[in-house]
Amino acid sequence: MEQTWLSEAYKGPVPNGFQGRVGWASPSNIALVKYWGKRGKQIPQNPSISFTLSECRSETFIGFEKADRFGFRFFFDGQENPAFGAKIEKFLTDYQAFFPFVNQLSLTVESRNTFPHSSGIASSASSMSAFVMGLMEIERLLVGPSTLRRAQGSGTLDLCKASYFSRLASGSASRSVFPKMALWGATPYYEGSSDEYAISLENDLHPIFKTYRDAILIVSGETKSVSSRAGHALMEGNPYATARYAQAKENIKNLLATLKSGDLDTFIKITESEALQLHALMMCSEPSFILMKPNTLNLINRIQAFREETKIPLCFTLDAGPNVHLLYPDSEAEKAEGFIKEELVKYCDKGRWIADRVGDGPKKLL
Ligand code: PMV
Repeated sequence: MEQTWLSEAYKGPVPNGFQGRVGWASPSNIALVKYWGKRGKQIPQNPSISFTLSECRSETFIGFEKADRFGFRFFFDGQENPAFGAKIEKFLTDYQAFFPFVNQLSLTVESRNTFPHSSGIASSASSMSAFVMGLMEIERLLVGPSTLRRAQGSGTLDLCKASYFSRLASGSASRSVFPKMALWGATPYYEGSSDEYAISLENDLHPIFKTYRDAILIVSGETKSVSSRAGHALMEGNPYATARYAQAKENIKNLLATLKSGDLDTFIKITESEALQLHALMMCSEPSFILMKPNTLNLINRIQAFREETKIPLCFTLDAGPNVHLLYPDSEAEKAEGFIKEELVKYCDKGRWIADRVGDGPKKLL
């Protein structure tokens, strides 16, 4: 596919007067089987599967104008943000073979997140995928609808291609472009899966997973002490790495079957084990690090005890941080929310939590 996308790239001149503004919203996602460890250019050491979220999104607008040479400014929440802008600029420079037209444009990017500032929720998946969707939209305007229809069938943006570019910008972003659930990484247990881009699992899901809920319990909104980039790198020397990658591959096989059958006991077992394995890997890296906080453990204990007492099938997962994602079927929403308000908010930073759910992927805003 890489060759196809390289040869498809718009290499012609940008016409005089070419200018405008595009806008895309793209969601965050939460992995069930985790991506932790990579090689080469963001190639995952094991496949991963995630729920695409709905409420936690980035909304990104790109103003573009024909220019003699490349120009770039990045604003976050209305303020110029050179640090984040530098990441996007680096992505554009590293992969300019895919977007040669960018060199003839001046871009002004304005981005915001729908989730609160400093909630500790990773925003690179949503922001990078939203940016990529916008960039592809600009290319689409240059290529023109007729060529595009031939190249991309339906005339909508090619989501595998969007996933491929999003992966190059930020690994987990590759999964955000698909509705409901996505699989990123080659596995013999799913035809068409690839290390280079994610694919949709929407057509292989038991209905219960299409409306799943994710209550994000904010234990701390502080910036992480160790970035995911550093965490991935530490997997290279991790003595358990080989065993971990084998275990993740096995979990992918079993989770794929479970997502089809709707067997929640197995779903819960795999999901919670994956969350704890991710943090165990951090604790046995060299140097080791701990991203959980005391209230992360308090929440985990309380969630597991509540499930035992009530038989309500809710479970937790964790991202690379202290916050806890409480996952439950839509049909249990009332009971789960009662439980959150009565028993869990006391462990949250200023009582904060975000009621999220499985979502439909990126949306065009302009
Ligand atoms: O996409 P990155 O490089 O920020 O890595 C994400 C890693 C985890 O969020 C911990 C797991 C995952 O699969 O999303």
